[in-house]
Amino acid sequence: MNAEPCTYVIYGSTGNLSRIKLMPALYHLDEANHLPEGTRIIAIGRRPWDQATWLKELREMIEQKVKSNFNEAVFKRFSERFCYHRGDLHEAEAYAALAELINDPEQQFSKNIAYYLSISPADFGQVLELLSANHLFEEEYGWRRVIIEKPFGYDLDSAQALQKKISLHLTEEQVYRIDHYLGKGMVQNVLVFRFANVMLEPLWNRNYIDHIQITHSEEIGIEGRGEYYNSAGAMRDMLQSHLLQMMTLVAMEPPVSMEAEALRDEKVKVLKSIRPIPKEAVHGHAFRAQYAKGTVNGVKVNGYLQEDNVPPNSTTETYAAMKLYVDNWRWRGVPFYLRTGKRLAKAQSTISICFRHPPLQFFRDTQVHCMNQNWVLLGIQPEECIRIEMTVKEPGLEMSTRTTSLDASFRNQNEKAIDAYEDLLLDVLKGDRSLFLRFDEVESAWRIVDPILQTWAIERDYIATYPAGSWGPEDSRRLFDKESQAWRSSLTPEACKYEV
Ligand SMILES: NC(=O)c1ccc[n+]([C@@H]2O[C@H](COP(=O)([O-])OP(=O)(O)OC[C@H]3O[C@@H](n4cnc5c(N)ncnc54)[C@H](OP(=O)(O)O)[C@@H]3O)[C@@H](O)[C@H]2O)c1
Repeated sequence: MNAEPCTYVIYGSTGNLSRIKLMPALYHLDEANHLPEGTRIIAIGRRPWDQATWLKELREMIEQKVKSNFNEAVFKRFSERFCYHRGDLHEAEAYAALAELINDPEQQFSKNIAYYLSISPADFGQVLELLSANHLFEEEYGWRRVIIEKPFGYDLDSAQALQKKISLHLTEEQVYRIDHYLGKGMVQNVLVFRFANVMLEPLWNRNYIDHIQITHSEEIGIEGRGEYYNSAGAMRDMLQSHLLQMMTLVAMEPPVSMEAEALRDEKVKVLKSIRPIPKEAVHGHAFRAQYAKGTVNGVKVNGYLQEDNVPPNSTTETYAAMKLYVDNWRWRGVPFYLRTGKRLAKAQSTISICFRHPPLQFFRDTQVHCMNQNWVLLGIQPEECIRIEMTVKEPGLEMSTRTTSLDASFRNQNEKAIDAYEDLLLDVLKGDRSLFLRFDEVESAWRIVDPILQTWAIERDYIATYPAGSWGPEDSRRLFDKESQAWRSSLTPEACKYEV
């Protein structure tokens, strides 16, 4: 698919996401000559800035991100694409003024228009309504697309209500729901690893896999976002979206093609095959906790309840773990353990696939004492890697073994990392929706976590805690089906766990 010239209209261009992700991603795309000729950007803000003030801010955003790689010539070309447009998104006149600007023949804006809603989710509905009322979605002279940031809803009901509003004004083909995890190179590599390597397919099922873990851990706390975080929590913030998305890629059947619909059909099938968790089983399937004070990277930090804008009796979880089963032919009986948390020992996202023990203990009467299970480890971030752990004989006369790993790492040291938003922003220009969420994916994901959220919302008397800087609460172990299962936090071979 080719990228077509377009006008990007960015709501919230002065906000945090724009500063740290969107503007640097667009700059990098321009630097790599990926932005088609004629691509322009209307940066919408409510601040009474003129074009010069905006460009000064933009320069700062880019300089802060790219540091010594800042290129004056590229920035000049990049900044010429911009038009700062002042407008309060709650005021109807702002939309009429935007329509006037877009249709101004002197400006020569491309009539392919992508609206990026990098604003509070509470404002999504109103902005869509007013853009539509001002005929800004009409596709008479070019396409109109809308990129909607996460979170898509707060629970199943609110997601359905938002979708209802969207479908009044837009077709599904015009909607690009972001889960930026899908733009990460390593996440896409999960599909390549699985479906371009035929040797894995016979092993990728209940016959050989003991269990699967998906972890997203953060060292940071809530970074001054107490108000937002306290109303969201780890389950909504991470598990419902990014972790369930990663799970679908690990568990899905091969799609008939890499076309958006084929890919998303298979992901939805996984989500729909996940065994529902009835409210009475929530405690057997989910665990929540909050960080208490502790030490992260040698620095003493406060507990969650001492953070600004967090009520002293809050039971919002900063750690959430969940056990799921996929009731289909491939995965029946294989537990998927998902966990995420803030203020944990290390920041990383990993997928760890643990294989079963060999069926016979051949080495019982030898000097082999240690038999670890095989693992496939996929490091998503910051370390991007694919490792397959195997048991091998140690050199020497004795018959003893150790664990070694086959490394199929994704990127060579001299190959540049590409931010997820670069991929996603370019896909919008190409009209490729395969890395964006279809509504039935979002809806199915909410259906899975809704009973847990509802139960936790009622149980407000107690929440477990864990020391900041640890790997989370010990008690979360109770989710495991077997004594032999334990959280895997390392991407390097672990000490021998199983004696034979
Ligand atoms: N930040 C992240 O890392 C991150 C990650 C994933 C998803 N997201 C999602 O991205 C979206 C934006 O998040 P954010 O962190 O960038 O939020 P933010 O820093 O609070 O920025 C919000 C933006 O909306 C603008 N805005 C607010 N009210 C407005 C109004 N009445 N009229 C015009 N503009 C208005 C703000 O303008 P002012 O600058 O004038 O206040 C600002 O540019 C949210 O949906 C969030 O959930 C953010």
